[in-house]
Amino acid sequence: MCGIVAYSGKQDCAKLIIEGLKKLEYRGYDSAGISLQKDNKIITLKALGRVDNLEILVNKEKGQCFCAIGHTRWATHGKPCVENSHPHNDCHNQISIVHNGIIENYASLKAELEAKGHIFKSQTDTEVVAHLIEENLKTLDFTHAFCQTIKQIRGAYAICALYVKEPGKIMVAKNQSPMVLGVAKEGVFLASDVPAFLEHTNKAVFLEDGDIAQIEGPFYKIFDAELKEQTRKVNEVNWDFTTAQKGGYAHFMLKEIHEQPQSAQDTLLTLKAGLKDSFGLTKEEAKKIKGIYLVACGTAYHAALCAKYMLEDYAQIPVEVETASEFKYRKIAFCKDWLFIAVSQSGETADTIAAIKNAKAAGLKVMSVCNVLGSTITRLSDITLYTHCGPEISVASTKAFTSQLVVLYSFALNLSFALGHLEKASFDKFYTSLEKLPKLMKQVLVQEEKIKQIAKKIYAKNDFIFLGRNSAYPIALEGALKLKEISYLHAEGFAAGEIKHGPIAVIEEGTPVLALVAKGPLEEKMLSNCQEVKARGAALITISDDMALTDAVQVPFEQEFLFPILSAIVLQFFAYYIAVFRGRDVDRPRNLAKSVTVE
Ligand code: M6R
Repeated sequence: MCGIVAYSGKQDCAKLIIEGLKKLEYRGYDSAGISLQKDNKIITLKALGRVDNLEILVNKEKGQCFCAIGHTRWATHGKPCVENSHPHNDCHNQISIVHNGIIENYASLKAELEAKGHIFKSQTDTEVVAHLIEENLKTLDFTHAFCQTIKQIRGAYAICALYVKEPGKIMVAKNQSPMVLGVAKEGVFLASDVPAFLEHTNKAVFLEDGDIAQIEGPFYKIFDAELKEQTRKVNEVNWDFTTAQKGGYAHFMLKEIHEQPQSAQDTLLTLKAGLKDSFGLTKEEAKKIKGIYLVACGTAYHAALCAKYMLEDYAQIPVEVETASEFKYRKIAFCKDWLFIAVSQSGETADTIAAIKNAKAAGLKVMSVCNVLGSTITRLSDITLYTHCGPEISVASTKAFTSQLVVLYSFALNLSFALGHLEKASFDKFYTSLEKLPKLMKQVLVQEEKIKQIAKKIYAKNDFIFLGRNSAYPIALEGALKLKEISYLHAEGFAAGEIKHGPIAVIEEGTPVLALVAKGPLEEKMLSNCQEVKARGAALITISDDMALTDAVQVPFEQEFLFPILSAIVLQFFAYYIAVFRGRDVDRPRNLAKSVTVE
């Protein structure tokens, strides 16, 4: 769950690596480091905390450098400290390594190497790779020693290596952790994610598991551990570079909240093209689907939970939703005629990948809803429906969430039509409503100041309760998750009907309760729940699409199914401003990383 950036080519690259690492800080920011290859030496610099601290050290370095590897760390093995920061070296500083992932058999390899006289300087699993290459270099050249090392390690990894005696060459290997080549005119970038090099090139080559690449910018070769050549497609990434910048906003999260109408619009436009072919399923295939497994993590899981209501209601099909971390370890009596749908912004979440593999092994058709072109999840899937959000940088997911719902709702309507549960006229009516979403989202965004003022009144509280019913219940969970992750406060989401069964006991004078009151058959029940908490002293804030409710944050009404998406935006603003008023580092919350690529 770390970020890697490397470069070999004709450009002076220390600054390029630093800028790239800053774009990947969402993957971890416990420490950062860089190895610069120059003057027949490898110079390694490391700093605790943010890439800014590393930049200070790099700025003091004199002279140019045309080949370097960099890393921003999210600690797994070994506490965050300078010794445990990447890059790691062998005994004689001939080899330099950056790694994202976990080397599972590092303990036994380390014991063997120590017996041979290797001295380790860190507590990391990564350092073993540098020593293994050093050991293999006794009999092999760099390329072969690297391949031999890859055959000896087990686990998840994206690894880049430099060797002092072969300047300008970077060896890279990938297994279960992302690694993409950015092919520029004068050199080749390597990175854990495209935004790291998007400013310089949009030509991306996604490595696959088992791939090894040899980079001598501007040239590269891809092969396997037996040196058998592999051909990988050069993709043109159509993300705009400026979307990976803050663009005048105080934080990426705020910018990404405001980008939601655009993301929804772009996602809807692309979906429209897919409508003709039922999103990659023929009508016959659609008719054979007897149920759906929806699996995801975190915010994507909440999108999946929300979509369950829509799929069951409109497509009248049973849906099971589960977090990937539970799904992958459960013995499941798979129903072969169920469709498996994975939802993921990054397409690199380890738990979700493992769940997909289980589903595939059981013979299920796998569809994914994903934002990142060419990511592992898209490559594992039979069909991918893309959200078109551009890069989501903030750790707290916002625009990806609402776009995931756009995709899943669109799919639900389409499936419902294919299965004959919706007439063409009704389908068109609902789809037209869905297409109004960008405009409706803007009507929520203009209420930012109002929401900010409410947040100002309650930000000092320590416990927050979110309530919802039906498809607004997952939004209550999502509102609580957003608040927890960026303000570190205690926040819980409940199905409003459940509070009487226990949770209402925690409510005391002044406890903020954010209640999602959707128009429709459950509105009255929800309003009763509001009265119940109010009677116990709660500071009640209602978010509703019913204009008759005074004192509420109002979201526009179009169709019932749009309420979760529109009310989610209100809760994103709440979480954002409460975190800002509390002085939190909104885009880089403690202990978290954006892409959870380890179990
Ligand atoms: O990239 P994914 O959508 O697979 O990530 C899943 C979760 O890790 C992610 O949604 C996480 O919960 C976010 N930090 C939520 O804001």
